[in-house]
Amino acid sequence: MEQLTSQQIVDITRTTNYGTWRFQKGWMPMHIADAEGCYLTDGAGKKYLDFSSQLMCSNIGHKNKAVIAAIAEQAEELSYAMPGYATKARAELSQLLLEVLPQGLKKFFFTTSGTEANEAAFKIARMYTGKNKIIARYRSYHGSTSGSIAATGDPRRWAMEPGGKLPGVIFAPEAFCYRCPLGQNHPSCGIACANYIEHMIRNESDVAAVIVEPIVGTNGVIVPPDEYMPRLREICDRNNVLLIADEVMTGWGRTGKWFAMEHWGVTPDILVTAKGITSAYVPLGLCATSEKIAAFFDDHYFSHGHTYEAHPLTLKPATATIREMQRLGLVERAAELAPYLGEKLRELKRKHVSVGEVRGKGLFWAIDLVKDRKTKEPFATYSDKVSGKPLLVDQIAAKCVADGMTIQAWVSHFVVAPPLIVTKEQIDFGVNLLDKHLVMADEHCTVSQEPETVSITSDS
Ligand SMILES: Cc1ncc(COP(=O)(O)O)c(C=O)c1O
Repeated sequence: MEQLTSQQIVDITRTTNYGTWRFQKGWMPMHIADAEGCYLTDGAGKKYLDFSSQLMCSNIGHKNKAVIAAIAEQAEELSYAMPGYATKARAELSQLLLEVLPQGLKKFFFTTSGTEANEAAFKIARMYTGKNKIIARYRSYHGSTSGSIAATGDPRRWAMEPGGKLPGVIFAPEAFCYRCPLGQNHPSCGIACANYIEHMIRNESDVAAVIVEPIVGTNGVIVPPDEYMPRLREICDRNNVLLIADEVMTGWGRTGKWFAMEHWGVTPDILVTAKGITSAYVPLGLCATSEKIAAFFDDHYFSHGHTYEAHPLTLKPATATIREMQRLGLVERAAELAPYLGEKLRELKRKHVSVGEVRGKGLFWAIDLVKDRKTKEPFATYSDKVSGKPLLVDQIAAKCVADGMTIQAWVSHFVVAPPLIVTKEQIDFGVNLLDKHLVMADEHCTVSQEPETVSITSDS
């Protein structure tokens, strides 16, 4: 086959593939030729610091030798066996999951994405409870297929409505103290956003489950108040409703714990995860359920499955990834680096009037940009995003790329989530670049204000 030039690689890709979540015109994908540690290399040999771990998934960094070896070994040993069979890769990973997952999650269904893992969770919740409705929250993302996009609160759902709207999903307000959807203030609110979910359950009837991202990811790294998850657990228990934690993004050390729900000592009935489980070396998702749910299916038909479910090539690299996280102490590392990164980001807030809030946990943070700190008006809306309007955050992200760093931008915020192997020097580099380019946002603020006037919701 002829050797393709970097330009040909870009051109073939953009003309023959769909660029996702965007208008196709103007898609100019960067050609990534190589990646190692915290860096990507493009087709021209230029290096970029990966400041959001791609899609908040490359948690152990790129080119980890142990994970690469695991992929090769599994390909040699057994590249496929249908899901009805037992394999060593499956047994070894399952044993390890019992060790690292929150206690009480005992039975697993393996998929090849977070989306599919959520689909499995919804079906399991409906089969187990015999009820239908799922409560999700407006600021959320749970996947792209029919069921999971129907449970997604953010505007990626809109294109599927009204024709594609699936019955059975209702939306609750998110626990977002900076922009409280109920117009309340914490703590005097008494966690009204959680209490309202109980009101919904009682008035809807037929509610099978509540699904939450423990810390909302793409939609702004929104950390709930500490009382929220325990309250939600109580509400679910009182009303015989299952609690599903979507830890696709928050799992695997990202927030400074193996799983974010551990911050509040809450165990969900179903935990869904993907991304960091293999650090994205291979596509794997997981739907982990409690013993009670597992026991139910002893005598009930488990009506679900995929050809690629529990695919050996996806499982052995997961075991290697988790072992590498343990060997390198990456969960502890994320917790240790959190105060350093958090303080650097607070410094950005002190310097830039366009930064309304910085918030996060572990190595998972958002920089929320506003035109005006008093009104908290963002630079763009969800409607702007899906109508293809040029967004200021994308322009700033492009400036960062030109200076050697990739970062995820969404509507009016950035997600700072470097690989958990990141060094303080790399954090400095990334934050300094943001410092340089946030000036562009400051210039677009509608009113001139003194920096640093409002409170910061942040944590380590
Ligand atoms: C919280 C959450 N759930 C589900 C998904 C969907 O996962 P996937 O893209 O692997 O299908 C994502 C993806 O970003 C996510 O962040």
